[in-house]
Amino acid sequence: MKEFLHPLPPQEPRAGGPPPAVFWLTGISGAGKTTIAGCVIRLFTAFGWRAVNLDGDELRRGLNADLGFSDEDRAENVRRIAEVASLMADAGLLVVVSCISPKQSFRETAKAIVGAQRFIEVHIDTPLDVAESRDPKGLYRLARAGNITGFTGIHADYEVPTDPQLRIDTTLTQADPAANVIRQYYVGTRLRSVSIL
Ligand code: ADX
Repeated sequence: MKEFLHPLPPQEPRAGGPPPAVFWLTGISGAGKTTIAGCVIRLFTAFGWRAVNLDGDELRRGLNADLGFSDEDRAENVRRIAEVASLMADAGLLVVVSCISPKQSFRETAKAIVGAQRFIEVHIDTPLDVAESRDPKGLYRLARAGNITGFTGIHADYEVPTDPQLRIDTTLTQADPAANVIRQYYVGTRLRSVSIL
């Protein structure tokens, strides 16, 4: 009975699986976070690794449906996503988060929740004019027309990460190669001592 009363710490890697990590993809709307996250998930899955994506847009339809885009609500949005990511990492998953998370303080909170050792901050770096010209959801157009207020990059700041583990310039790197850069970083920094390659 004793082992049931004193379970092992939850953050131990699953036997034979890669050590859990949270890849935190931050960047402005239209930067390519969701697309790159999808490529990372496909790549990890192809290696037999269990990976899941937590996407800001998607979570705002459910878990975070009560939140808007004030600083307070965005902070709460990021905090909740980090808590869920942390639980998933505890369960042995590789977690790819894609959300704007526009402030350094939000991302620091996320890192504290997830744990620095598991947290990999990836800046999906796209100039505003490029993201705006892509405008995949037509939101920049609506924001410029005044139909959306507080839009990140137009009326609300995006604080560029000062010291991310990775910065991917999407004007130079396509989504699949970007996913590979992320995988290589993970392998180089987290898998060196684990023999599952
Ligand atoms: S965050 O700022 O709280 O991290 P999150 O990533 O969850 O943002 O959601 C951003 C998405 O919400 C955008 O990709 C866009 O589709 C949508 N959105 C709607 N209104 C806004 C706004 N005012 N600013 C930024 N994104 C918005």
